[in-house]
Amino acid sequence: MRTAYGDGWQNGINFANYGTARLQHVAYSASGLAEAKSFLDWKNFASAPYTSQTHGNRFVVNHANDIAEEPYGKYENIGMMPQGGIIAKPSFTILPNGNAQLGPLFLMEKMDIGWHPASKDWRYTMVMPDGTVAGRTHGPNAEAVEFCVGCHATVADAQDSLFFIPEETRVK
Ligand code: HEC
Repeated sequence: MRTAYGDGWQNGINFANYGTARLQHVAYSASGLAEAKSFLDWKNFASAPYTSQTHGNRFVVNHANDIAEEPYGKYENIGMMPQGGIIAKPSFTILPNGNAQLGPLFLMEKMDIGWHPASKDWRYTMVMPDGTVAGRTHGPNAEAVEFCVGCHATVADAQDSLFFIPEETRVK
């Protein structure tokens, strides 16, 4: 489909360059969570935004903080993420008029051993576009992020609850 942005929007290249990221920076940071502000300085492992059916059919990318960067880049061979590793997954949708609309920020942070065995010690957080924290493991509305744990648990033993990025969208 051709839009005012040309054909490039479909693979997300234009939006990656057009300031969507800056918008996310401002909006999510209203949550007061340090990682919701700093994640844009972390390495992005997606070569372009890709559609994530499991996160509301939104376009997403995945950033990893300094601690997570090297292990996350091993993908299926990760073994275990060290404590302090954080993956941040901002999202957006494209409205019928072609504008990008920000979606939630999805976060996973590896905590101390024994912090929450049910999630393999991962703290799941969902931050809404206006900065509201919709849910956080052992935090506000913890029940709202239990479904995250449930789905990610299917790969808990094989790859430390991480699903990674579709192969064709991984940065080389
Ligand atoms: C029905 C399954 C499912 C649910 C529910 C789900 N996820 Fe995911 N998640 C995935 C899959 C599959 C991927 C990797 C592919 C992708 O991005 O779509 C992923 C990737 C992630 C990543 C990047 C780290 C990784 O695994 O590589 C984060 C962060 C994340 N999800 C957070 C969350 C949070 C927070 C919630 C709840 C609000 C949630 N997820 C709910 C399936 C799910």
